[in-house]
Amino acid sequence: MLSLMRTQVGIIGAGPAGLLLSHLLHLRGISSVVLEKRSREYVERRVRAGVLEQGTVDTLAEAGVGERMLREGLPHHGIELRYGGAGHRIAFERLVPGRAITVYGQQEVVKDLIAARLAAGGEIRFEVPDVAVHDLDTDTPSITFQGERLECDFIAGCDGFHGVSRRSIPEGALTVYDRTYPFAWLGILAKVKPSTEELIYAYNDEGFALHSMRGPEISRFYLQVPPDASLDDWPDERIWAELKNRLETVPGFELATGPILEKGITPMRSFVAEPMRYGRLFLAGDAAHIVPPTGAKGLNLAAADVRVLAEAIGHWYETGSADLLDRYSEVCLKRVWRAQHFSWWMTTLLHTFDTDDAYGRRLQRSYLDYVTSSEAAATTLAENYVGIPFEPFGSLGA
Ligand code: APR
Ligand code: PHB
Repeated sequence: MLSLMRTQVGIIGAGPAGLLLSHLLHLRGISSVVLEKRSREYVERRVRAGVLEQGTVDTLAEAGVGERMLREGLPHHGIELRYGGAGHRIAFERLVPGRAITVYGQQEVVKDLIAARLAAGGEIRFEVPDVAVHDLDTDTPSITFQGERLECDFIAGCDGFHGVSRRSIPEGALTVYDRTYPFAWLGILAKVKPSTEELIYAYNDEGFALHSMRGPEISRFYLQVPPDASLDDWPDERIWAELKNRLETVPGFELATGPILEKGITPMRSFVAEPMRYGRLFLAGDAAHIVPPTGAKGLNLAAADVRVLAEAIGHWYETGSADLLDRYSEVCLKRVWRAQHFSWWMTTLLHTFDTDDAYGRRLQRSYLDYVTSSEAAATTLAENYVGIPFEPFGSLGA
């Protein structure tokens, strides 16, 4: 016999989406339980991306979980596009005044959210291996796990691309759009002072490279590698040699190297499942959509989804009206497809496709020349990169 628990919102997944949703609901006096497959230590140490849009920074700060982010995060007012032996700055302060990005690791956001949830008496169950969802198309959906049944009014599927939520939606109820890319990213975290003030996106005939960072002593790098590359092929010396080869392409720039703390390979895919809802199950973040990391949109889309979902659920409890819930998917998908296009565009602009498509490379070069010389084109990149302002939704202002 399963022992019964009750909450208002059952949340699957303790990534940025699930944890932020739980906190935003808490601020509205709505209870939730977060169920996470991995351990706390694992989710707090998992190195992922680290660029926060203006809107994400504002959302975390307004939710009272931004104190460390504002103290330790690095506000950046531009990025560099590096190609053809020169660097070209995209100046956010001129192109999108008042909007910037903040470089702050995703795992730091997760740590801050877990600390805030637990400090507020929030319930997070870690190491829950066997989550299953039930009765999604009824008013009393539930989640079973480890001999327990959690009855709730709503289930939020925040369990990422490989989670159980989306997979529990009946065949045919979703339409899936996807695209894969003929390369992957090898990402490293290194104990070395960044060799740049701002992020460098490098287009190079050998392949793309990105110089990012996590703080004054920690750098983050990414290299375009073949889709089937394995870490065995990439000893540390080869990684540094290739980063130097692709980044030391402008006079006077020398890349500092140091001990590699962590490395991993990420496949590159674009994916959207529509609608982002089935009955009382609402999908948010990577459970509903994946973007290639070139536009640094994954974490920001997850935060934008749950900002809308918390408002819609709050409106339902306050008024009994499902209006906002019924608009959740359409409102989120508008922002999702904007980010999908921008991420696909940045990926196809900056990566080398190993087809002998000389015409295609000329097009890439022409667009790089255009986006680094036309105010209009640079503004398009800048406004998408720092994040399109939120649209009004319910009581949420722009
Ligand atoms: N049961 C419980 N938890 C699960 C299950 C399951 N069956 N499957 C996955 N999870 C957990 C994962 O262990 C992970 O901690 O769900 C969480 C999903 O978190 P993320 O993958 O971080 O997804 P999301 O919160 O949507 O954040 C999106 O994460 O992957 C990055 O680039 C992505 O930046 C984006 C962000
Ligand atoms: C990162 O810092 O991890 C990062 C930065 C920019 C990207 C992707 C990842 O586009």
